[in-house]
Amino acid sequence: MEFSRIFMISCSVLLLCSSLAYGQAVSPPAPAAMSPSPTPAPAPAPAYVNLTYLLSVAGPFHTFLDYLESTKVLETFQNQANNTEQGITIFVPKDSAFKALKKPSLSNLSDDQLKSLILFHAMPKFYSLADFNELSSKGPISTLAGGGYTLNFIDNSGTVHLNSGWSRTKVSSAVHSTEPVAIYQVDKVLLPEAIFGTDIPPMPAPAPAPIISPTADAPSADSKGTASSSKSSPSTSSSHRIMNSGTWSQLVLALVGAWLLFL
Ligand SMILES: *[C@@H]1O[C@H](CO)[C@@H](O)[C@H](O)[C@H]1NC(C)=O
Ligand SMILES: *[C@@H]1O[C@H](CO)[C@@H](O)[C@H](O)[C@H]1NC(C)=O
Ligand SMILES: *[C@@H]1O[C@H](CO)[C@@H](O)[C@H](O)[C@H]1NC(C)=O
Repeated sequence: MEFSRIFMISCSVLLLCSSLAYGQAVSPPAPAAMSPSPTPAPAPAPAYVNLTYLLSVAGPFHTFLDYLESTKVLETFQNQANNTEQGITIFVPKDSAFKALKKPSLSNLSDDQLKSLILFHAMPKFYSLADFNELSSKGPISTLAGGGYTLNFIDNSGTVHLNSGWSRTKVSSAVHSTEPVAIYQVDKVLLPEAIFGTDIPPMPAPAPAPIISPTADAPSADSKGTASSSKSSPSTSSSHRIMNSGTWSQLVLALVGAWLLFL
């Protein structure tokens, strides 16, 4: 009796061991060993933003683009856009805004004045639409034209307006707003006091602005892909699961066998 008991126990232990060994031999090699965990990629450099391209497909902004090219300010802007530390914010009037210019005409401006006027349409820093609210409490904001070429931001019950002295316009839609480049469409050409003087003709009372929440204009977030990190994990875990269930069924079989033998 004692002997058969020992025999049964050793038999079941043997069965257990062999089934475990069998399970390990059959189960596929751990996938973790095959595919080393991907090294985290360094933060991707912001993609180069081609201002010429952006302005030529939106708008239409052909007049502004023509001025950018003829004054060579395009190079300054593109250089600032390439400078990803600060970035750039550009206010771009549509072609119709240039057509609507009457009193102070651009045709009489000297080359330097024209260049300053175009530079006046940009700030050497990236600002999201949400940032303008804060700028409205900061007084005159300097532009790429430097010197006395400043813009005022006015928070008009949630809607931000730009005031250059001669022009007052709503910061309307975003053409592009992903760091480091922000481009916003404006309804008017920004005419600086530094060129046209402070003898500003009285402006017509602004029509009551339609109530549009500032977020309605917010650019759709450029979907920067973040879905590439978890590629290998599902297959890894599933094969682990297969291996584990295989081992477990072997164990159960072995135990059942031992029990039968014991009986
Ligand atoms: C930028 O875009 C313009 C217009 O599409 C194109 O002519 C020019 O080659 C582009 N520049 C670069 C550096 O890709
Ligand atoms: C901006 O960067 C692009 C791409 O690297 C380059 O082709 C272009 O010449 C740069 N432009 C300026 C003005 O720095
Ligand atoms: C442009 O200059 C011409 C000649 O100097 C002058 O007659 C004309 O009134 C000026 N136009 C504007 C809009 O200032």
